[in-house]
Amino acid sequence: MHKVQVARVREIPEITRLLWSIGKTGMSTEHILDFDVWLVVKDREGKIIGCDALERSGKLLHGHSLAVAKEYRGQGVGSALVQYGFDHYVNRGDTRVVFTYFWNRDFYERLGFTRADSKFYKNVDDIGRRELHKSSMTLIRKKE
Ligand SMILES: CC(C)(COP(=O)(O)OP(=O)(O)OC[C@H]1O[C@@H](n2cnc3c(N)ncnc32)[C@H](O)[C@@H]1OP(=O)(O)O)[C@@H](O)C(=O)NCCC(=O)NCCS
Repeated sequence: MHKVQVARVREIPEITRLLWSIGKTGMSTEHILDFDVWLVVKDREGKIIGCDALERSGKLLHGHSLAVAKEYRGQGVGSALVQYGFDHYVNRGDTRVVFTYFWNRDFYERLGFTRADSKFYKNVDDIGRRELHKSSMTLIRKKE
């Protein structure tokens, strides 16, 4: 099982570099300092190989910027990050929301998320307005 840790503010530059290295154009880091908590998984040398950010808005816990370095994918790092956030930061009655690319739907559904109404979540808070774009969809997982 992968050890998930809460990152320190001084580790944000390293998280930024990981996000920039994902995909052809990199993942956005525009709101990186707005997030409430950064979760990371490190390799044996202490290098960050996976990250996931959480941002609270009322009873919604938004997940952002989930990324795992290419050479470490398919080993449960992404799942461990999402599950840790759910176990430690989702309170009773909360809903965790992700606005993710269409092609990641299966990944989140395996973790218990279901598709939700994007129009509703787009209007529910500023985060929805900021994060929803044309290649994304909304998935939610509620706290039982
Ligand atoms: C999506 C991502 C975080 C998954 O990380 P990961 O560490 O490879 O995920 P896991 O190893 O925990 O995978 C869990 C399961 O989901 C599957 N899976 C992983 N990524 C998937 C995808 N994009 N589509 C469908 N299934 C996927 C895995 O095969 C695995 O299945 P299994 O349980 O049957 O073995 C990683 O592929 C990534 O960084 N992608 C680029 C950035 C991105 O798209 N981030 C999310 C949107 S913000």
